[in-house]
Amino acid sequence: MKILGLSFGKKMGNTDILVKNALFGAREAAPEAEIRFINTNRLKIDRCTGCGACSTSLERGGDNDCIVKDDMQMVENAIREADCIIVGAPVYVLQPVGQFKNLVDRFSCRHDVSAINWVLDKRRAGQAPGDPDAFPQERLKKRYVSYISVGGATTLNWVSMGTATLHLFGFPAMMKVIGNYDAHHMGTTGNPLLDDELIANTYEMGRQTAAAYGKEDKDIEWFGPEGTCPVCHQNLLMMNGTTTVECPICGIEGKLSVEGEQVKVEFSEKQQARARGTFEGLREHTVEIQSFGSICGPKIMANKERLEKELEKFRKFEGYINR
Ligand SMILES: Cc1cc2nc3c(=O)[nH]c(=O)nc-3n(C[C@H](O)[C@H](O)[C@H](O)COP(=O)(O)O)c2cc1C
Repeated sequence: MKILGLSFGKKMGNTDILVKNALFGAREAAPEAEIRFINTNRLKIDRCTGCGACSTSLERGGDNDCIVKDDMQMVENAIREADCIIVGAPVYVLQPVGQFKNLVDRFSCRHDVSAINWVLDKRRAGQAPGDPDAFPQERLKKRYVSYISVGGATTLNWVSMGTATLHLFGFPAMMKVIGNYDAHHMGTTGNPLLDDELIANTYEMGRQTAAAYGKEDKDIEWFGPEGTCPVCHQNLLMMNGTTTVECPICGIEGKLSVEGEQVKVEFSEKQQARARGTFEGLREHTVEIQSFGSICGPKIMANKERLEKELEKFRKFEGYINR
């Protein structure tokens, strides 16, 4: 069993300390486990350029590696090898630091369990090139993850998308989320070690993350505040002017009702079963994406000449600084 701590904070900063503290907890639950730690602060993890080489490679019978060569490969290998992962990131302007999102964009889409299986099923049926058994199966293995969001603010007001955005890391790979911890108020805490409750909680979350290894989802208890969404336990909602609301993380609909000052949102079992981090939820998206080509292809072909003509002024756009 391998446990990985991933810190996006400064070296020996607040995030580093809290992730390592969770790893101390993990060690208690799994003394035999190999524990590894990565600080990403000085690593080069560039953005996904959107080149599509990973998808093309998968469709042509290869694996779906990223062709951008930087420190991402090292981090990705460590994530792939890990069974349990603690991810911690400082909040920069309400959300986890941008480097975290770079990693999510480059890791998570390529580890979408439904998208990969879609192609592997086609290979099995002889409808796509490549040996289905040659695809590295460990990329699809079950992993367990917990998140620590770290912010300076004394209230949740300035860390409003911290923990929620951290959840984007693991859902495409269908990682089981054990818990999340919102460690804001660092501006007044001084050092995490001076907050006994924070240290005890992050230690316990790490312990429970390692203790979950090998368990089925139904046997795992959520560590953290219950939250509004029963799947990701976050409190963000998308509104459309009706009482039907949506969790932006899980993409599931709930029914909102108000009683006095109390607001309640009910998410049906059916909706919960199609949350983004389930196979069903991911498959909805795979099917949608797979339909794009047959819709756009003919449209573009039918308008080829018109598009060529009209695109000219966009190509020659005046004032383009880095052409
Ligand atoms: C550019 C920048 C933006 C920040 N934005 C926020 C913010 O929106 N909300 C907040 O609570 N803290 C914010 N902080 C404070 C950090 O989240 C906080 O100092 C954290 O402890 C840093 O983590 P580290 O010590 O692990 O590097 C910001 C810090 C920086 C450098």
